Amino acid sequence: MSYERSVSAPDHDLAPETVWHVQMPQIRFGRDAIEELPFQLRDLGVDEDATGLVVTDEGLVAAGHAERVETLLSEAGLSVDVYDDARREPSVSDVEECVEFVRDERGEAGYDYYVGLGGGSCQDTAKATRTVVANGGSPLDYVAEPTGNGKAIAESGPPLVLVPTTAGTGAEISPVAILSVEEKNIKEGISSNHIRADAAVLDPALTTTLPPGQTAKTAMDALGHAIEGYTTHEYDALLRPSDPADRPVYAGRTPLTEMFSEKAIDLLSSNVRTAVHNGDDLEARANMLQGALFGAIAGLTAGATLCHAMAYPVGNRYHTTHGETIAVLTPASTIDYNSGSDPARFSRVAELFGVETTGRTDREAADALKTQYVQLQRDLNVIPSGLAELAGITADDVDWLAAQTVDTQERLLRTNPRPVTEADVRDVFLDALHNWE
Ligand SMILES: [Fe+2]
Repeated sequence: MSYERSVSAPDHDLAPETVWHVQMPQIRFGRDAIEELPFQLRDLGVDEDATGLVVTDEGLVAAGHAERVETLLSEAGLSVDVYDDARREPSVSDVEECVEFVRDERGEAGYDYYVGLGGGSCQDTAKATRTVVANGGSPLDYVAEPTGNGKAIAESGPPLVLVPTTAGTGAEISPVAILSVEEKNIKEGISSNHIRADAAVLDPALTTTLPPGQTAKTAMDALGHAIEGYTTHEYDALLRPSDPADRPVYAGRTPLTEMFSEKAIDLLSSNVRTAVHNGDDLEARANMLQGALFGAIAGLTAGATLCHAMAYPVGNRYHTTHGETIAVLTPASTIDYNSGSDPARFSRVAELFGVETTGRTDREAADALKTQYVQLQRDLNVIPSGLAELAGITADDVDWLAAQTVDTQERLLRTNPRPVTEADVRDVFLDALHNWE
């Protein structure tokens, strides 16, 4: 089975796509931006006697961030409850628990506003919870068929503001919440423009408490979004859907992708070492948060490629975090396999990444990018050397992983710059077992 990239929607004209589209939350960025959270909520229509819910986790409570947000909201006259039991890489039942908490406290109507505070997992829990409470039923109702019931999401629900405390996932602007479905052993997204947050408040000071390991791993995810977005096929390589509603959210790179990716690759690659090794450096943290946001905008406008598609089966089966999985898969998938599609474009990525490209052919520059990418991961000291070290994965495991990738990740494979067969994916998995010795 393989994926061609000639058809973007079930019903389409036999003419190239001519339109691109972007939809984003309001974005508030910068030092002390968190102080403007009450203003942001009011701006979204939250009134004086509203009661809201902050969805976060124990780590954010321990770091004092949850209390800070609670105090800011109370001092602004807003009532607020805190749910601090969001889990890492949340499952359907984790979201069910949060939904149950909301229904116990507030009945079917739920809260008047929601704040998701934390990394991608807390934010996705907040997104999915608001959606399920507003539309009724359970999380699986809104997961795509055949895993879930594929029910359409009609209501966005009350205002939701996301406050990321990591620089990486892009959950604050994405139209998807990624959940694992335990009984089927897969990860799926609830995907809809209605699940997207209304606003994102990004304050770099909230990211200084993130330990080096998580800083490095989420940075690799952010770089993945920037490079993968930059190297999807172009949006007009698809055919134009007959109904604009059928246009995929992830539909290939646009001029907007180009701008945001270039800046993101530069910011992330030149600040990641400082942010990991000297976490209190607020300037490096701000540059990372901005780079991650720009990388997310790139991914949001274009989609992602083979690396993200391969990462979901790995994360689900071996319970590895998204960031570290992206990190170990990037050299073999995004760089080695995909650079064959357009070496000149990868030479430009190399240049943005700080590789000396003068005097090198495009192919040589792309190869040098891989060398320097791996060197960066070694310098960060916390990234596993490959799938083998990440989770004890061996050559015996790659058949299953490749089949899962091709069978379940069409959403991401569609924008890959090179067509992909299951045999190709198997080879890329084998290549990613060891990025260095
Ligand atoms: Fe990602």
